[in-house]
Amino acid sequence: MNADELKRQAAEAAIEYLPDGGIVGVGTGSTVNFFIDAFAKIKGRFEGAVSSSESSTDRMKKHGIPVLDLNAAGQLDVYVDGADESNRHLHLIKGGGGALTREKIVAAASKTFVCIADESKLVDILGKFPLPVEVIPMARSYVARELVKLGGNPVWRENFVTDNGNLILDVHDLEIMEPAKLETQINQLAGVVTVGIFAHRPADVLILGSREGPKTIKP
Ligand code: 5RP
Repeated sequence: MNADELKRQAAEAAIEYLPDGGIVGVGTGSTVNFFIDAFAKIKGRFEGAVSSSESSTDRMKKHGIPVLDLNAAGQLDVYVDGADESNRHLHLIKGGGGALTREKIVAAASKTFVCIADESKLVDILGKFPLPVEVIPMARSYVARELVKLGGNPVWRENFVTDNGNLILDVHDLEIMEPAKLETQINQLAGVVTVGIFAHRPADVLILGSREGPKTIKP
């Protein structure tokens, strides 16, 4: 099975976690694209979806799935999204696709966060995947210097602007032993919009596509 087949397997298994109706939170990325395609087949059961990015919004609209504003939707029962890395506590690194800010908002506004990924995303220690940090453009160099003090090696993701009009620093060479602590430290830097560590609001369920079939991990 190739990586896409494993992603599709995890995405299709997430359908089981959806409520009977209402509004579903939808993340961003190649794994979520498989989820959107599966969700489209049963879209009639739901009022619609809240999207975490312009790209997921476009894909859902092409499928005829109504995309609703989070302010009008209120609390969501379920949010389904991918991850770049997860540890066994379901602390995540996210933001490889640059959608981390809206993803964190929709995750925070949801009762249950179902994370879907292929099994290569499960790690013992977060940080091999460069940690994305969304920054206000004028703060890019300042935040980069502060991230060096925290032990990282930030690299500006050039020619990329987030859906919110901001920039991304990808922080290499971190070994994240205390994800919640580092999330707080980076959040406190002036000019940081969002750090791609999801530890204060981890996933509730991780579904991993594997050669033996979908595996479910709960913290
Ligand atoms: C986007 C994300 C994605 O969930 C993450 O990058 C995983 O993507 P993929 O499913 O393509 O591996 O956080 O900002």
